[in-house]
Amino acid sequence: AKVAIFISGRGSNMAALLYASLLPDSTYEVCLVAANDPDAEGLTLASAEGVPTFALSHKGRTRADHDAAMEAAAKEAGAQYIVLAGYMRILSPEFVSRWQGRMLNIHPSLLPKYPGLDTHARAIEAGDSHGGVSVHLVTEELDAGEVLGSLPVAIRAGETADSLAERVRFAEHQLYPRVLSDYVSRGSDPGYLLEKVRALAL
Ligand code: GRF
Repeated sequence: AKVAIFISGRGSNMAALLYASLLPDSTYEVCLVAANDPDAEGLTLASAEGVPTFALSHKGRTRADHDAAMEAAAKEAGAQYIVLAGYMRILSPEFVSRWQGRMLNIHPSLLPKYPGLDTHARAIEAGDSHGGVSVHLVTEELDAGEVLGSLPVAIRAGETADSLAERVRFAEHQLYPRVLSDYVSRGSDPGYLLEKVRALAL
């Protein structure tokens, strides 16, 4: 399956997804890396690796216009799935509904705990034994779609939000390619699709 990856910055998850896609057992290929910031670091890595890129600043554009341009680029590249990897923009409900079941996001907490920002600080503050990372389907409600996979990361004595974030990132890079690859291969399994349709009809 072809996937478009949306980023806003460093793009370390995009890099993990891209290199995993080059392994022989991958079920997906990256057809586009798109960013809402033309200076996003991840863009230079993607183009160095020969992956098409698209960049358009959201500044001075309406959400609808910006979303439409991002979507057009993804479609033109032939994307069947959209994979958000540190994409720091909220997508319009219309966009989300058009890609329902075909758009994934990675979030640095053990969802449903700590949707939104400052996840690591909140986990440490709450005295949790673990932070972690989740990959989920994108729905209209922020960080609330079905969780497809997660990995816990231990919180050590004296942990700071930064030190935890750094370790969570290692876990992210393991989790995201695996979950995406599994999800995409289930998507082409008629039995699985039938099960999904039945669940929606209930
Ligand atoms: C990751 O921590 C991800 O969980 C969050 O944004 C960060 C993106 O980092 N949604 P990177 O750009 O992939 O390095």
